[in-house]
Amino acid sequence: ATAGSPPQPVTVTITGAGGQIGYALLFRIAAGAMLGDRPVRLRLLEVPQGMKAAEGAALELQDCALHLLRSVDITDDARSGFEGANIAMLVGARPRTAGMERADLLSANAGIFGPQGAALNAVAAPDIRVVVVGNPANTNALIAAASAPDIPGERFAALTRLDHDRAVGQLAQAAGASPTDVRGVTIWGNHSATQFPDVDHALIAGRPARDVLSERLGGPGAALAWLDDEFVPRVAKRGAEIIAVRGSSSAASAANAAISHVRDSVLGTGDESVSAAVLSHGEYGVAEGIYSSFPVTSDGTGYRIVEGLSLDDRARARIDASASEIVAERDAVRALGLL
Ligand code: NAD
Ligand code: LMR
Repeated sequence: ATAGSPPQPVTVTITGAGGQIGYALLFRIAAGAMLGDRPVRLRLLEVPQGMKAAEGAALELQDCALHLLRSVDITDDARSGFEGANIAMLVGARPRTAGMERADLLSANAGIFGPQGAALNAVAAPDIRVVVVGNPANTNALIAAASAPDIPGERFAALTRLDHDRAVGQLAQAAGASPTDVRGVTIWGNHSATQFPDVDHALIAGRPARDVLSERLGGPGAALAWLDDEFVPRVAKRGAEIIAVRGSSSAASAANAAISHVRDSVLGTGDESVSAAVLSHGEYGVAEGIYSSFPVTSDGTGYRIVEGLSLDDRARARIDASASEIVAERDAVRALGLL
């Protein structure tokens, strides 16, 4: 924008806007939580049976009289939904229920992301950025990106910010610190139970997290035992814990993480790293071409992988195991003819 001219509205398309996460997302985006003081046009893309719920949310959005909200359009047609979109949040997909792993959703959900990728390719704005929330998110991001050959693969990501924020929350609690004092946590790999929540480079109030844990828990051995036996499984299986306790999958925390993911991509992270599942070019030995979670930063133009972190054997083994699972999911959707 030239000096003095008002900022142009940003067009944000949200799929599955009539669902649980959608309901927790729309109002905060329209209130400025995601893009700062930029006007926003919302496009809600649903399937026919979800249209009424999306229409209801649109009525409520109007009733909030939000000064940044320029328009709300609702459609069940992907091309109209993604027309001119600057940001696409692909939430629409079936959630798992108790007893399922996220990969069990592959056959139910994978078919959604090819057509949506193709529609994005055809009609989205040239600066489109996409975050995939629907599970299994890493593989769905791969499918969407593969169906959008004209959009650089780096513009797609799958959400692991919720896992990241969960890890920050658990670590802060164990250390008796505030979440704002925790930096440098990384989620590696798949948004699944094999993910590796890594604190080896994390700082708590400026001190190595491992040292702080060691002091509080009674030595380095006790700190490592807590990390391996409690922290890692708690974070990796938190989605299932929420489903068991709440009766349905996480919604407000997922929406919060999706907002943070887009906000930090668009407004920048400064020198702080966060986590997102982005396209691997072979960084840290992760198979090229898959969407795997890494430590990332953004200067406002999109996420870049932070390189050069040292990995010990423990980290190496866990990252390899999770990346192998993503490769296996890729091979499974190839076998289904979806890739
Ligand atoms: P939900 O069932 O409440 O809502 C999903 C909505 O998507 C429904 O309104 C449905 O009509 C719509 N939908 C289905 N297919 C669609 C399509 N092809 N196009 C557009 N809309 C479509 O589910 P939810 O709780 O909002 O969860 C949505 C997805 O997000 C699930 O797959 C869930 O597992 C996943 N999730 C991911 C994370 C993460 O961290 N990555 C966190 C929480 C949930
Ligand atoms: C989560 O992490 O809460 C979501 O991916 C939902 C799920 O199935 O775990």
